[in-house]
Amino acid sequence: MTNHGKAPWWILARSEEVTGKKPLSVDIGDQPIVMWRDNQGVVRALEDRCPHRRAPLSLGCIRDNGWIQCGYHGWSYDGATGRLTEIPNMKDDQRFPPLYKAERFAVAESGGLVQVSLDPDAALPPPIETAMPLSGTAHVALDHTQYVAALYDDPGLVLGIRGVRFTPYLMSELHEEDGKLVMERSCQWTRLHWPAPFSPDFPITVLTRSDPVTGETELTLRDTDFNQLLSAVVAPVPAARGVTAIRWRCRVGSTLPGFRARLLALGTPFRIRETIDAAALRTLKPSASRHGEELRAVLTEASATAA
Ligand code: FES
Repeated sequence: MTNHGKAPWWILARSEEVTGKKPLSVDIGDQPIVMWRDNQGVVRALEDRCPHRRAPLSLGCIRDNGWIQCGYHGWSYDGATGRLTEIPNMKDDQRFPPLYKAERFAVAESGGLVQVSLDPDAALPPPIETAMPLSGTAHVALDHTQYVAALYDDPGLVLGIRGVRFTPYLMSELHEEDGKLVMERSCQWTRLHWPAPFSPDFPITVLTRSDPVTGETELTLRDTDFNQLLSAVVAPVPAARGVTAIRWRCRVGSTLPGFRARLLALGTPFRIRETIDAAALRTLKPSASRHGEELRAVLTEASATAA
């Protein structure tokens, strides 16, 4: 399933970030969202503004029965519907004003990741099947569009895989496959002394499949024998004030031929760069990202025509 042409699903949290103990404040652009796990373990997502006096619900608490309670005047809301369920000290014969209902968002959880759509009635996305034990969350002071463009044009500016150098050479240009933007980039193992003399040897590649709307990217590092050395999901989401929040999960392959590949299994070989090299970013020439914009426009138009 692809995201263009409808309210997209965004990966807004790793499963372990959402608990029944403390509400989690996240956002999609200017839309603040509070998430928590109710007493059944189901993840709920509401607008992070209390319908009473607009206080952030994320500053409140989660009650034993799974409702979220505003920290200001103590009103409680049911996450499944957004309905106001309790006002402290209200008499039994008094009724709640229907006006006070929190905005609810659709939630899906699979593969250790929590997805949210701002359309509360959105059809569920396909489950994310692969179990990826390594994970992290990072925030980068770069807006989402620029972040995704940098990911396409030079992934080494925004992320790192231990021992791997991303080169500017593409094995396959950015193209569309099943609604995803796909490309494969030649990589090399880094040398102990870098920069090294130019070598035409590219023993590994990184294959990326990106959602054209959200920039959510499945990344596979593989060698020339197609052994999958490392797989990752990188999910950039536009956050408030021009920040991009990135959630990622990763796993190292079960077949790691060669000494350099086996080093990937030590610790956490994957990372998101929280500080971007601004000088390198400034001089980075748009290449794949420009092509990606064109493909995205075509996909969006095709989707609108089909609707
Ligand atoms: S602002 Fe939330 S209960 Fe009043």
